Amino acid sequence: MTLVSSGIPGLDELVYGGIERGSIVLVSGSCGAGKTIFGMQFIYEALNRGEKCAFISLEEPVERVRKYFSKFGYEINKFEKEKKLLILHIEPNEIASKIEFQTKKKKMLAVNIRQTPIFFSKEDKIDRIVIDSVSALESAFTEKKTYRLYIHELFKNLRSTGATCLVLTETYGKEDRYSRSGVEEFLADGVIVLYHFKHGNQRLRAIEIVKMRGSKHSNKIVPFNITENGIKVYPTEEVYTNL
Ligand SMILES: Nc1ncnc2c1ncn2[C@@H]1O[C@H](COP(=O)(O)OP(=O)(O)OP(=O)(O)O)[C@@H](O)[C@H]1O
Ligand SMILES: [Mg+2]
Repeated sequence: MTLVSSGIPGLDELVYGGIERGSIVLVSGSCGAGKTIFGMQFIYEALNRGEKCAFISLEEPVERVRKYFSKFGYEINKFEKEKKLLILHIEPNEIASKIEFQTKKKKMLAVNIRQTPIFFSKEDKIDRIVIDSVSALESAFTEKKTYRLYIHELFKNLRSTGATCLVLTETYGKEDRYSRSGVEEFLADGVIVLYHFKHGNQRLRAIEIVKMRGSKHSNKIVPFNITENGIKVYPTEEVYTNL
């Protein structure tokens, strides 16, 4: 088993060294919790080690994604030119209508992932993939059964590439539920939750590793913060609720 760094200062200590190469990890949190920044940092660290990465945005156009990277000082221009970084913007509706059309035509639930806008082949030789976020995708499907089937196929495809993947999902404050459909957390190898909870008259940030298949991880919920340099996790500190 090879472990790779998450790229987030302090986080690798919580997962005893890093994330398993080739695994799919869900990063879940409410709006503004820090999911996109987490994903960008995960990619930027890898780019600097010469890895090839893809950032699939299902929410923001490419230009806005680029701007967001540069806001944190992440110089991605050169990596895009060298074709080490691929940023794609795909409209969730484009995926949903294509899949729903496929299943209608066949009069059965069947997804040919090769004909969908998100498909990776082994030849792409991508080391890291971030998908931001599948919640946007879930809302675009009229048939939730079809969405579930699609997510199954998408995860299979991601796994077949050997890339280490982050799938971002939005939560709605329900405990034990890390995505809208409730399927993604079972398909993923790992689940990381970013909390942004109200305490008195302020919000505090905390992070938890809910699962990391096949490896030891901390069971402690610890604080993190976001600055102009991105996310930093404090693995040995307590979440201060007595402020
Ligand atoms: N320079 C900064 N300093 C401190 N905090 C910042 C800075 N930039 C952004 N943030 C915090 O990060 C939050 C946004 O993080 P991010 O875009 O990763 O959230 P998200 O979970 O992807 O949200 P959404 O669900 O809306 O996409 C902001 O709401 C803000 O609280
Ligand atoms: Mg986001």
